[in-house]
Amino acid sequence: MLKKSMLENVENLIEKATEVRLNAHAPYSNFLVGSAVLDDKGDVHVGCNVENSAYPSGSCAEEQAIGAMCAKGGKTIQDIVVIGKSDALVTPCGACRQRIREFSAPQTRIHVCDTEKGLLKSYSMQDLLPDSFGPENL
Ligand code: THU
Repeated sequence: MLKKSMLENVENLIEKATEVRLNAHAPYSNFLVGSAVLDDKGDVHVGCNVENSAYPSGSCAEEQAIGAMCAKGGKTIQDIVVIGKSDALVTPCGACRQRIREFSAPQTRIHVCDTEKGLLKSYSMQDLLPDSFGPENL
C-alpha cells in the first residue's frame, strides 16, 4: 500500500503521463507510451516514445522523461510512472531500467500503469534490476 501523500504524487504523475502519451510518435508500432518523473526538487518531467523510420533510432518514453529531467537540473528520480495500453504490464525495457538506475536512490519507485486499469504495480529499482551497475560501481 502506498501512503496518502505518495499516492497523490503518483496520481499526479499518472495524469501527466496519460496526457503526454497522446503526443507519442509511434506510427510503426502504434504502441503509445507516456512517462512522468518526479525529481528530488519536486518537479515533474514528462516524455513519450518517439519512433523513427530508421527503427533503432527511436526512443522510449522513459528515456525522454529522464532527458527532460536532466535538462532542468533534476538529479534524482523519486518516482517514475510508465503508462501504456496493453493486456500485459508495460514495464520499462532493459535499457530504460539502466537509464532509471543512473538517477535512482534507494527510495525510487517505478510505477507501471495502464490507460484503462490505472496503477497496476509499483517496483523498486532492486526489483527491476538486481545487483545493478551504477555510478558507485565505477
Ligand atoms: N516503449 C517505451 O517507450 N517504453 C517502454 O517501457 C516499453 C516500450 C516504446 C518503444 C517503442 O516505441 C514502442 O514502445 C514499442 O516497443
